[in-house]
Amino acid sequence: MIKTDIFKTAIYSDNFSLNNTTLRELVNNVEENFSSENISNLGGYHSINLLNESINFLSKEQLTELTSLVSKVEIFGNDIIKNFSPVKNLKIGNIWFNKSYNKDFNIPHIHPNSILSGVYYCKTSQDCGPLVFDRPDKLLVQSYFQNFFSNLNEYNYEVYTILPEDGLCVLFPSYLTHSVMPNLSNSARVSFSFNLSF
Ligand SMILES: [Fe+2]
Repeated sequence: MIKTDIFKTAIYSDNFSLNNTTLRELVNNVEENFSSENISNLGGYHSINLLNESINFLSKEQLTELTSLVSKVEIFGNDIIKNFSPVKNLKIGNIWFNKSYNKDFNIPHIHPNSILSGVYYCKTSQDCGPLVFDRPDKLLVQSYFQNFFSNLNEYNYEVYTILPEDGLCVLFPSYLTHSVMPNLSNSARVSFSFNLSF
């Protein structure tokens, strides 16, 4: 028997060693200076692009930590993209943070005009809202194919869920639909998100 995976989708995760205390100070600093954007977030705070030139008030430590995050993500992304055929250098085009409070969530969305997207968890707690990926072949779900199986695996499950933890970075293809379940804890979840492109 020859098995051929005709379509593959992968997500990638790693743990980053960063100073989350300094990143949280950065978050508070930006939150004090700008009101929230409204994009995929329902509730909570969504910052502007942190590479925007109007973010010119960060302390040296905050800027160093942000630069370190950008650098780690770009190294991670370029390591992944080696598995795809064209090789150019991936760069972060935009990076922002989300602060999500009790019951806040993010509706299903993709990140257009981008190759890889991702999230870095700066502050998490139990039940702070898992990240949920929808399988891209929606026809499987519409055909009730998964109803025939008692054990679900990557051939038949409808969604894949990631539980956030401090220091976890997850990268995924930008076309992959994802959402964030409501934060059921009483402490705010803080995460940075980013898009990488050529
Ligand atoms: Fe997203």
